[in-house]
Amino acid sequence: MNILILNGPNLNLLGTREPETYGRATLADLEADLRAAFPGVTFAFFQSNHEGALIDRLHEAHREGVGGVVFNPGGFTHTSVALRDAVAAIDPPVVEVHLSNVHAREAFRHRSLLAPVCAGQISGLGMAGYHLAVRYFVEGRES
Ligand code: DQA
Repeated sequence: MNILILNGPNLNLLGTREPETYGRATLADLEADLRAAFPGVTFAFFQSNHEGALIDRLHEAHREGVGGVVFNPGGFTHTSVALRDAVAAIDPPVVEVHLSNVHAREAFRHRSLLAPVCAGQISGLGMAGYHLAVRYFVEGRES
């Protein structure tokens, strides 16, 4: 199974960015951990600080026919109609993941424009959230 791990703005700074909120692990750590945990999965990893680049990558995932997308849209979660439309437009299911518990933070983080068009949302479980989303795709909805 092919799975795309997609990360949005400022997540390239993981490891040093507000570690009390986002932890000390980097995106490179996440990639190594996921590859080790799911040797049977073919992963693609992509991070961008640019909305259009994230939209283009979602379209590409659709054309490639990936089995699922694990997407942390960062701050775009709360603002981007265009990313929501991209998620709604593609066939692969998308799970929205947040490292922090967005519902326990500022009010402007409580609303996700993307969550209604995603298969589900995982928030507040740190890097484990990405692992759980991959498990969802690998093991399926029934497990
Ligand atoms: C985040 C939560 C967002 O509100 C924030 O803008 C981020 C990271 C998270 O992973 O907890 O950039 O998506």
